[in-house]
Amino acid sequence: MKKYIVFFSLPLFVFLFSFYRESKRVITLMFENGYQKPVHYIEKLDPQMVKEGESLVKTGYGIIHKKNKPISLHFDCTHCHQLTVTSKKKLPASTLYGVVNRISWYNDDYVLKYGEGIKVGRASLRNAIQFCAQECAQGRKLEDNEVEAILHYLWSLELKTTDLDTQTQKVISSQEIKLEILKQSPFFYSKASFINPTHAREQVQKLKGNPQAGHEIYVEGCMSCHKQGGVTSFLLDESLISRRFLERNLDKDNKYNVYKAVYEGTWAKAGYRPYMPRYTKENMTFQEMADLIAYIKSAR
Ligand code: HEC
Ligand code: HEC
Repeated sequence: MKKYIVFFSLPLFVFLFSFYRESKRVITLMFENGYQKPVHYIEKLDPQMVKEGESLVKTGYGIIHKKNKPISLHFDCTHCHQLTVTSKKKLPASTLYGVVNRISWYNDDYVLKYGEGIKVGRASLRNAIQFCAQECAQGRKLEDNEVEAILHYLWSLELKTTDLDTQTQKVISSQEIKLEILKQSPFFYSKASFINPTHAREQVQKLKGNPQAGHEIYVEGCMSCHKQGGVTSFLLDESLISRRFLERNLDKDNKYNVYKAVYEGTWAKAGYRPYMPRYTKENMTFQEMADLIAYIKSAR
């Protein structure tokens, strides 16, 4: 009888142990290897603050500090940012999962869009949150307690070792963590390259698109803003009419050209704040664009 217990419980222990070992906080491991505590580090998460931050991110309103005005009248953070580790759902901004682990924000070409002013957002996560609420989300200035609540929530979405591939695990387990190396990893630095729509079109046309994959991008990405009740009155749905409309404009040089809308975006105007953020080459790869176009064309 005893033998059986040992026989059955051993794999369970091995399983539990490996689970315990593997889902470690990435930041802890980095601290062990000499990584300095970032200024936005929070020693101990307050569950109330995490909830408050989650509500602010998902609805624009707090639960504890109820205000009668949301952060933005036009957008919630989740219109542009995902909250999970993968960016399968194609939204124009990077995922907020693991954003606390990054070494800088609004990287590379975002300076072209926002000018030198963006450098404050680059260097500090608190500033990036504040900047995003006002500039990207076209909302109001956040109060300090709101920034802190959002930060608490974002720490609840920090990277765990199980999120990383083995190569990246090795990098952060090395004796001396180098910023230059972290900068090469999408987990710690989200690269941002703006791309010319005409150039993108030439490249995309060389690829074979998968309409099923494109369908997913269309429904989960595009339609999350363009559906009825979304952020714009320019409606897109799965109907043949919608898709034929987009297809007709693929060769035209106007605002309905999908290459142009996706890679250039649109701008907030006085009196009409909703706009479409441009996708970077990283957020909408040429292959993903080819898939999207294949889906649009499959309406024929
Ligand atoms: C209309 C789209 C939009 C909305 C709404 C929006 N953001 Fe952003 N956000 C962006 C874009 C574009 C960037 C540029 C870099 C990127 O892709 O993350 C960005 C960057 C960020 C960054 C830095 C990420 C990085 O790695 O560069 C943070 C943090 C952030 N936003 C937080 C928020 C929060 C919190 C809200 C809600 C209050 C919000 N954002 C709402 C579009 C948006
Ligand atoms: C974060 C929200 C958001 C996402 C995601 C989004 N759009 Fe947009 N898009 C907008 C807004 C807002 C406008 C501005 C339209 C307006 O003036 O109301 C716009 C404009 C457009 C336009 C031009 C129409 C015009 O009136 O300027 C096209 C075409 C378009 N989007 C296609 C797409 C496609 C294709 C996708 C998916 C790859 C997509 N959009 C994803 C918000 C979004």
